[in-house]
Amino acid sequence: MPRRARVHKVRAIFAAPALPLLCGSMLALLALVALVSGPLLDLDSAYHSPVAHMLESPSVLSILSPSHARNVTRVYSKRATAEAVWASKLAPYFYGCSSPKSQSSRQLSKVQSNGYLLIQTSGGLNQQRTGIIDAVVVARILNVTLVVPQLDHKSFWKDSSNFSDIFYEDWFINTLAQDVKIIKELPPKFNNKVYSMRVPRRCKPEYFLSKILPILRKKKAVRLGKFDYRLSNRLEEDLQKLRCRVNYHALRFTPDVETMGQRLVERLRQNSGRYIALHLRFEPDMLAFSGCYYGGGEREIRELGMMRKRWKTLHKRNPDKERRNGKCPLTPEEVGVMLKALGFQSDSHLYVASGDVYGGDSTLAPLKKMFPNYDTKETLALDGELEPFTQYSSRMAAIDYIVCDESNVFITNNNGNMARILAGRRRYFGHKRTVRPNSKRLGSLFLAKPNMTWNMFALKLRKVQRGFMGEPKEMRPGRGQFFENPSACICEKSNVKENIKVLQQQEDMLDDHEEDGEQPLSFLNGSEDEDDDLDVDPDLEDITFMQEEDMDREDDELGVADGGDARNITSQQE
Ligand SMILES: *[C@@H]1O[C@H](CO)[C@@H](O)[C@H](O)[C@H]1NC(C)=O
Ligand SMILES: *[C@@H]1O[C@H](CO)[C@@H](O)[C@H](O)[C@H]1NC(C)=O
Ligand SMILES: *[C@@H]1O[C@H](CO)[C@@H](O)[C@H](O)[C@H]1NC(C)=O
Ligand SMILES: *[C@@H]1O[C@H](CO)[C@@H](O)[C@H](O)[C@H]1NC(C)=O
Ligand SMILES: *[C@@H]1O[C@H](CO)[C@@H](O)[C@H](O)[C@H]1NC(C)=O
Ligand SMILES: *[C@@H]1O[C@H](CO)[C@@H](O)[C@H](O)[C@H]1NC(C)=O
Repeated sequence: MPRRARVHKVRAIFAAPALPLLCGSMLALLALVALVSGPLLDLDSAYHSPVAHMLESPSVLSILSPSHARNVTRVYSKRATAEAVWASKLAPYFYGCSSPKSQSSRQLSKVQSNGYLLIQTSGGLNQQRTGIIDAVVVARILNVTLVVPQLDHKSFWKDSSNFSDIFYEDWFINTLAQDVKIIKELPPKFNNKVYSMRVPRRCKPEYFLSKILPILRKKKAVRLGKFDYRLSNRLEEDLQKLRCRVNYHALRFTPDVETMGQRLVERLRQNSGRYIALHLRFEPDMLAFSGCYYGGGEREIRELGMMRKRWKTLHKRNPDKERRNGKCPLTPEEVGVMLKALGFQSDSHLYVASGDVYGGDSTLAPLKKMFPNYDTKETLALDGELEPFTQYSSRMAAIDYIVCDESNVFITNNNGNMARILAGRRRYFGHKRTVRPNSKRLGSLFLAKPNMTWNMFALKLRKVQRGFMGEPKEMRPGRGQFFENPSACICEKSNVKENIKVLQQQEDMLDDHEEDGEQPLSFLNGSEDEDDDLDVDPDLEDITFMQEEDMDREDDELGVADGGDARNITSQQE
């Protein structure tokens, strides 16, 4: 099953499981006060303080002082590597910033509302999240009132939950009160007059203004169907910042879900205080879709072949080519080997977020052997504790989202929505380490491994992973999806350039010590062979999305977005 959010400040309130109801109403009250008396929390400064605190810590400063850097010894570097793998040294120099640049862009329109926007999301939990976020931004662009989004009940994940079953509805409405007017239900007088339509993927704001606004003015209430990734990835800065306010501050899970997730986090932290979370996603649908081969012979070919039939538009794939192109997730064993090579000790605690792993226990056994402190939500939960959630795939996914987000290190093993959205979120909240396997180059490295000493292999692997470790600025601004690389919402502290230089010297020294003929890649330059995956990246998390992706590839950002027609799929009077 897929997985998934919260805001840190008020979390402590939920810690006592018996209190959620009471606290829920308290929060609603607080939010109401905020409505009347201005912002309750300054989004940016709320995040400043912990970072400022970290900066004052002597250990960070000593690492960064230039004289120290010059004295780096090999022994010191090795120890530093073992620790550095848990957290980026540069992280304290960056912080998430989502307050609008110009306050005027935050004032609600004085103009009468141009109408009511309804949307129906599509896909699994995280795909739906992108639709919800973009719906708020579209409502802002059009000066319309947004009706709380309707969730997708028909996707592959078959979850009948409504918005308020998963997300904290009042918090959502109140937190965004200065940006967009959001109401829970359409006023009854419009109920039978909603005009339904769809827009292409990744439309620019001008498209909504020129094509949708006139319809809204005429019909008053318009519902946009299958609303996921319908708004352009690139937007002006204040709209991107609004995206961040929705994604990182307004959109929280319900207290029930939040409390459950935090309980698991506490149990994991009881062990050694820190843990790695792995979004394995080595699930049959994922493997079938990717068209990769994992050495399971006839049986694997038959089983995955059957699953592939679900996607009628999928063309035949060459497994070797897919692997070379980095489209194949690593096997659980390969993930374990990667973790060891990166420097994680075998007593590290590992939380695995995953649905049914293809091949089951036997596929997982090598990973468990390498990292015996292995947990899932099922092993951490007490008897019956998960019961209220198990029937709802999105709520289960939300629990995984929370545990993965709270982790010290998050390992993605796929390019799906959850992996990308969490990677972006972790950048925003202090650049917590996120490791994306550089599968394009790891594939051939694993093939060559039998002929290498372990040290050589580990060294090469660490090099291959440069630029894929969740370091600040490792992806250039504007590169990739905004949800993964929310560069408009990442700010630098003033002294950042000096310190980056020092750290870079350290890194170079580290490379000098480890005699290896290859040119060291600068870890701040990003990776050259990184996918710019805007148009070739079928979402692996949701099947309806994948089907459509194959059909309307041409709808991408540079294509139809500003020239196409609103596809008039249905125009019924509901
Ligand atoms: C670095 O080494 C030099 C000489 O090798 C020494 O004088 C200096 O005190 C050292 N600095 C630190 C911070 O250890
Ligand atoms: C929305 O409201 C703002 C502020 O009142 C105004 O500048 C803008 O033109 C309006 N846009 C639309 C599409 O109504
Ligand atoms: C969601 O809302 C619909 C309509 O109000 C209702 O029939 C359905 O039972 C709700 N789903 C859940 C899981 O409560
Ligand atoms: C490993 O080395 C042997 C002998 O040197 C060679 O025949 C073989 O092709 C190499 N295998 C790989 C995967 O490089
Ligand atoms: C990294 O960036 C620096 C300056 O920004 C440049 O001089 C250097 O050549 C780059 N290195 C690589 C490997 O691209
Ligand atoms: C949608 O179809 C209806 C009737 O079929 C038509 O009147 C309307 O103009 C169409 N809308 C768009 C945006 O093409």
